[in-house]
Amino acid sequence: MLVSSILVIFLLNFVQCKKLLLTGDVLTSLNVQLQELMHLQKLATWDYETNLTDFNLAKKLEMDVNLASFQKQASYNLSKYKWKSERDGVLQRERLFYLRLEEEILPPKKYKRLKEIMSKMIHIYSTAKICDYSYPTKCDLALLPDIENIFAGNSSEDELRYTWIERRKAVGPKVRDLFQEYVQLVNEAAQKNGYDDASEYYLREHTDPDIKKKLKHYNRRLRSLYEQLHAYVRFKLRKKYGNSTSEIGSIPAHLLGDLTAQKWSGIAQVTLPYPEPYENFDNLKQQNYTVTDIARLAEDFYKSLNLSKMPNSFWRKSVFQKLTDTNMTCNPSAWDFYDGQNFRLKTCLKTDREGYETLHHWMGHIQYFLQYQGLDIKLRNAATDALFDSVGGAFSLAAFSLKHLKRVGLYRGEISTKADINNLYTVSE
Ligand SMILES: *[C@@H]1O[C@H](CO)[C@@H](O)[C@H](O)[C@H]1NC(C)=O
Ligand SMILES: *[C@@H]1O[C@H](CO)[C@@H](O)[C@H](O)[C@H]1NC(C)=O
Ligand SMILES: *[C@@H]1O[C@H](CO)[C@@H](O)[C@H](O)[C@H]1NC(C)=O
Ligand SMILES: *[C@@H]1O[C@H](CO)[C@@H](O)[C@H](O)[C@H]1NC(C)=O
Ligand SMILES: *[C@@H]1O[C@H](CO)[C@@H](O)[C@H](O)[C@H]1NC(C)=O
Ligand SMILES: *[C@@H]1O[C@H](CO)[C@@H](O)[C@H](O)[C@H]1NC(C)=O
Ligand SMILES: *[C@@H]1O[C@H](CO)[C@@H](O)[C@H](O)[C@H]1NC(C)=O
Repeated sequence: MLVSSILVIFLLNFVQCKKLLLTGDVLTSLNVQLQELMHLQKLATWDYETNLTDFNLAKKLEMDVNLASFQKQASYNLSKYKWKSERDGVLQRERLFYLRLEEEILPPKKYKRLKEIMSKMIHIYSTAKICDYSYPTKCDLALLPDIENIFAGNSSEDELRYTWIERRKAVGPKVRDLFQEYVQLVNEAAQKNGYDDASEYYLREHTDPDIKKKLKHYNRRLRSLYEQLHAYVRFKLRKKYGNSTSEIGSIPAHLLGDLTAQKWSGIAQVTLPYPEPYENFDNLKQQNYTVTDIARLAEDFYKSLNLSKMPNSFWRKSVFQKLTDTNMTCNPSAWDFYDGQNFRLKTCLKTDREGYETLHHWMGHIQYFLQYQGLDIKLRNAATDALFDSVGGAFSLAAFSLKHLKRVGLYRGEISTKADINNLYTVSE
C-alpha cells in the first residue's frame, strides 16, 4: 500500500516535470482549427435560421457538437501544459479563454439536447400562427408582419387584448416543457463550471462581485423618474382606452404599442409631450426607399464618422426583409462568420422608423466585428454582452438626433426645445 502510494507520488512528480511549456505556437495552431470550426458552425446556423427545416437543423446540431467537442479537447489538452505566468498577457488571456468551458462542459448528448431544445423553442416562436380578431376563420396571422402591425397600429383595446392572449397561447404551452428542460441543463452546466446556478454564471462576465448591489442602487436612483414616466403614460393611455388602464396600478402590457412591451415607440403618436411635428418617416416610402436603401443610409452615417463601409458580401448575402419562401427567425441579428469576409445582418424590416433604427443599431455590431477582426479568434468578442449592445445603441441614438434626421430628409421642422423633447421622448423608449 505504502509502496504503491510512494510510486504514485513519484510518477506524478515525474509527469509534472515532463509538462511542456505552453508556447504561442501551440495556441496559434489551436486558433487556426477553432476559427475553421466556428466558421462552419456559423454558416450552418445561418442556413438554419434563414430556412428552418429539419435537415438544416440536423446540420447545425452536428456543427454545434463538433465545435463543442473541439473546445473540450482543447481545454483538456492545454491544462496539461506548464505555464509561466509572467509571460505575454495576451497569450495568458487566450489560454484562460480556452481553459474556461461554457455549456460545452456538459456530456456530448446533453449538450446536443440543449442546442436542440433551443432551436425547437426558436422554431415554435418564429412560426406560431393565430386567428384574426375580426375574421375568426382566418388563422394565418404570423408574428411578422401581422401581429406587429396590429400592435403598432391604431387597434382597439379588445383586439389588442385578444391578440396578446392568443399569441401567448400559441407559444407558451408549446415551449413550457422544453423551457423547463432548458433550465435544468443550463443549471447543470453552470454547476459543473463551479457556479450555484445559471443566473450566477451569467453574471460572471461582469467581473464585478458587487454587480447586483450596483444595479439595485441605480434602479433605486432611477425609480422616481420611471414612476413619473409611467404615471404620464398611464394618463395618456386612459384618455385613449379608458378604464382598461387603472389610475394607479401597472400598465397592461398589450397597450404599450409592442407585443413584448419592450419599446414604446408604437404609442408615440398618443403620448408625445408636444403637438409639434417631429420626424417624417413616411418620407422613406414617398421617396420609394427600399430597406437596402436605408441600410445604405446607415452605411453613409458610419462612413461620415470615419468608420468602415460594409464589405461586398454584406450587401450580397444579408437578409433585410422576411423571406417569403421559407420559415425563418426574425429577431434582428448581426453575424460574423470569422473568415474576415462574411459579415451579415438578418432582419425582417420594413421601410419605416423601426427599419431605420434597427439597421443603424445592428450595423454598429458589424462595425465592432470589423474593428476586431484582426485579433486572434478567442479575442474576437465584445468585452461584455452589455458593451456589445451599447456600441450599436449609442450610434443609433446619434442617428436619431434632429440634426442628422434633418440632414437625411427625415425631419423637416425647426430644431427647437419642444421638438428636441419630443425627439428625446421617442428615442428613450
Ligand atoms: C431550405 O432548406 C432545404 C433543405 O432542408 C432546401 O432544400 C431548400 O432549397 C432551402 N430553401 C431555400 C429557399 O433556400
Ligand atoms: C488533444 O490531444 C490529443 C492527444 O495528443 C490529440 O489527438 C487531439 O487532437 C488534441 N485536441 C485538440 C483540440 O487540441
Ligand atoms: C384610432 O381609432 C379611433 C377609434 O377607432 C379613432 O377615433 C381615431 O381617429 C383613430 N386614430 C387614428 C390616428 O387613426
Ligand atoms: C370605468 O369603471 C367604472 C367603475 O368600475 C364603471 O362604472 C365605468 O362604466 C367604466 N367606464 C368605462 C368607460 O369603461
Ligand atoms: C416612386 O414610385 C412611384 C411609382 O413607381 C413614382 O410614380 C414616383 O415618381 C416615385 N417617386 C420618387 C421620389 O422617385
Ligand atoms: C480615419 O481613420 C483612419 C484609420 O482607419 C485614420 O488613419 C484617419 O486618421 C482617420 N481620419 C480622421 C479624420 O479621423
Ligand atoms: C413553416 O413552419 C410551419 C410550422 O412548423 C409549417 O407548417 C410550414 O409548412 C413551414 N413552411 C415552410 C415554407 O417550410
